[in-house]
Amino acid sequence: MRESILRPMTPADLPAVLGIQAQCYRGTLHESGAALASRLALSPATCWVAAPAGRPEALAAYLFTHMWPQDSLPPFDGLLARHWDGGELTWFVHDMAVAPAGQGQGLALRLWQAARAAALDAGLCSSRLVAVQSAAGWWGRLGYQQIAPAGAALSAKLAAYGDDAVLMEREV
Ligand SMILES: CC(C)(COP(=O)(O)OP(=O)(O)OC[C@H]1O[C@@H](n2cnc3c(N)ncnc32)[C@H](O)[C@@H]1OP(=O)(O)O)[C@@H](O)C(=O)NCCC(=O)NCCS
Repeated sequence: MRESILRPMTPADLPAVLGIQAQCYRGTLHESGAALASRLALSPATCWVAAPAGRPEALAAYLFTHMWPQDSLPPFDGLLARHWDGGELTWFVHDMAVAPAGQGQGLALRLWQAARAAALDAGLCSSRLVAVQSAAGWWGRLGYQQIAPAGAALSAKLAAYGDDAVLMEREV
């Protein structure tokens, strides 16, 4: 297996990202290209990909993260825009996926560390995510802990990520 090189995601990566999404998630968790493109446009510095050395177009893994109001949750498969005005922001880790051939080599951790450095540069202090497909254990190894959604509106948004969705938090 070739060494993987990490770099910030660009819009040209989105077709390959959609291919990895199709391999890694059950159908009800597939998000549209437009929804993912809006996340990249919101925060290009905190969205990263990994590709084999010498083959920058052949993605092995991707990670979407962006800032978001701490007391809210981005809508699953929705188009995001920067519409907040004041209030606490969190580093929202939206979607991490490693293509099956690249799993188990530490790629996810490396992507998270790269994006985290950008989140720290942006001055973010807390991080939140929604764990799906039983990945809460993996995030727990990074220090994320389950928290209860505060209020009915947040609970409804969390439910849109699926019955098994778990809201988690840690310091950046
Ligand atoms: C979860 C995922 C991102 C981990 O990527 P990865 O690059 O293989 O992770 P790493 O190499 O850093 O870590 C591998 C370790 O995590 C463990 N692991 C993998 N998936 C896990 C899960 N769902 N829950 C708990 N541990 C998990 C592996 O068993 C391995 O353990 P080991 O180090 O003791 O051998 C990857 O398995 C994946 O893309 N899964 C499908 C998409 C998904 O569910 N994403 C998370 C949505 S919140």
